[in-house]
Amino acid sequence: MQAPTAACASGRGKAVTGNKVNPRPEPRNSRARSPTWPMIYFLSGALIAGAALLWHLGRRAAAPSAILTWQRQIQLPGLPLALDGLRVLHLSDVHATPRADPTDTIMARAEAARPDLVAVTGDLVSGWRGLPRARRLLRRLASRWPTYVVPGNADHWADSMRREVPRWGETGAVVLINQGQLFASDSAEIWVAGVDDPYRFRDDLGSALAPAPAGSFKLLLAHSPEIIRRPEALRSDLILSGHTHGGQVRLPLVGALVTRSRLGRRLSRGLFRMNGTVLIISSGVGTTRLGVRFWCPPEMTLWILRRAEPAA
Ligand SMILES: [Fe+2]
Repeated sequence: MQAPTAACASGRGKAVTGNKVNPRPEPRNSRARSPTWPMIYFLSGALIAGAALLWHLGRRAAAPSAILTWQRQIQLPGLPLALDGLRVLHLSDVHATPRADPTDTIMARAEAARPDLVAVTGDLVSGWRGLPRARRLLRRLASRWPTYVVPGNADHWADSMRREVPRWGETGAVVLINQGQLFASDSAEIWVAGVDDPYRFRDDLGSALAPAPAGSFKLLLAHSPEIIRRPEALRSDLILSGHTHGGQVRLPLVGALVTRSRLGRRLSRGLFRMNGTVLIISSGVGTTRLGVRFWCPPEMTLWILRRAEPAA
């Protein structure tokens, strides 16, 4: 009696007829027999579930309720003694939309911060539909504190929207488009200057800073920190900006992935001292159309200006 072959014993792949072995090809595209397809299904499902979870977490991290309010002191050598302790609330890149409304959250945070003035550095909206909410926010801010605002690139992506920007002044806020205004606090004055969006090269620093009284402290509002590339910007004592969103999506040890700024990813957020002036870049309150944030919470900051004593 002939011993069965290994193939016959396993019952797969080949049929045995007497001494003759007839090859029988493996069925092709057989899902039931291939271990690859269940694995593909499993990995696809895990990938989709992971992406959905990330999206959910990113959306939650970008929600108005996640807005952080920082309080920072900043030492400024040129600050007049009478302005020591001035409280400036800085918010940027609200990107108001008909969806989530950050107005109540911003107002509650601002009330708690007790500012002397409010600076809004552009990108109030992302499109037409956000205008009513942006106006409402400005109206409420301006009803409580002197409020200064400059436009950002998202505020005038269309000609029709650009024409809306000067009308923001109807809310009571001071709209600064390449101009400045004196802000008086007790016995001291500060020149608050604002430029149109530097990202689109609409800024005119000469017009904004030239009328400033000689020797006055100059606070400059500019949507994009790229304003620091202009030599005239160094005539300012303090520059508040936004635009980068801090990258909006950051990775540990890597930082911001994208900033849409010609300054590069290193200058994505924070405070930078440069040639006698101070540049502050806010991560902003809102988001671009990709409405998520990772390791980059929405923020507004109360800056308390402190007079730095000159070095002996
Ligand atoms: Fe923005």
